[in-house]
Amino acid sequence: MSDPSWFPEELGHAGPEHLDPTYVAAWDTKAAWDPAEDVDLLLRGGIGRDSVVLDLGAGTGTFALAMAPRCARVIAADISPAMVEAMHSRSAGLPNVEVVRAGFLTYAAPAASIDAVFTRHALHQLPDFWKVVALIRIHRLLAAGGLLRVRDLFLSVRPADLDEAVEAWLAGATAVATTGWTRRELEAHLREEHSTFTWLFEPMLTASGFEIVGAERSPNGIYAAYTCRKR
Ligand SMILES: C[S@@+](CC[C@H](N)C(=O)[O-])C[C@H]1O[C@@H](n2cnc3c(N)ncnc32)[C@H](O)[C@@H]1O
Repeated sequence: MSDPSWFPEELGHAGPEHLDPTYVAAWDTKAAWDPAEDVDLLLRGGIGRDSVVLDLGAGTGTFALAMAPRCARVIAADISPAMVEAMHSRSAGLPNVEVVRAGFLTYAAPAASIDAVFTRHALHQLPDFWKVVALIRIHRLLAAGGLLRVRDLFLSVRPADLDEAVEAWLAGATAVATTGWTRRELEAHLREEHSTFTWLFEPMLTASGFEIVGAERSPNGIYAAYTCRKR
């Protein structure tokens, strides 16, 4: 089935930097993250040798490459042609990694064909209305009891504490963009992207058919991660 005519063009929400091959080439050094904890969490949640795992907004494929030796197949989907190109290079020779150019609103597969969906720091590209549409689509893709692990900038602060929390976060930005995010980049994130609050996102998860079985919130109140099961 084709997507409704009222769906947005996802590339227009992808974040222009993610489409820039120079930025993408520097991504792994800039992001420098270890997916081991997320891989372990999925394994403990029952994902294993026979499982199919989908990473949405997979970037350069850091999670997908770490997950691949532990499951039957990983599908690494990203909307950015430059990210997809990077994943093709990194996954060459890995027969169980499938790289796809598609996004939260366009990735298509048979219903109930995926055992776990992972997504890190990508859902914030979509406004809240579209986050829910993305969650409904993920729910449809997952097999009964399937897992969703989502990490992102979800602010767990109370509205009254927002200014203080954001200023503290911005004050901890890195000085150079090569090994982290500068204050200018973090400010642009807040202005132009769509990070939401934990107390808004949690009802979105529940309303979309997920049971939240685990949640971690960063001490600075800026980041959160959820492990959810399809109800
Ligand atoms: C901040 S990067 C995170 C990449 C990767 N998940 C990581 O943690 O290293 C955000 C990624 O989301 C992708 N993206 C943006 N909008 C998207 C969409 N609608 N569907 C899928 N991917 C999207 C971008 O191209 C980019 O690769």
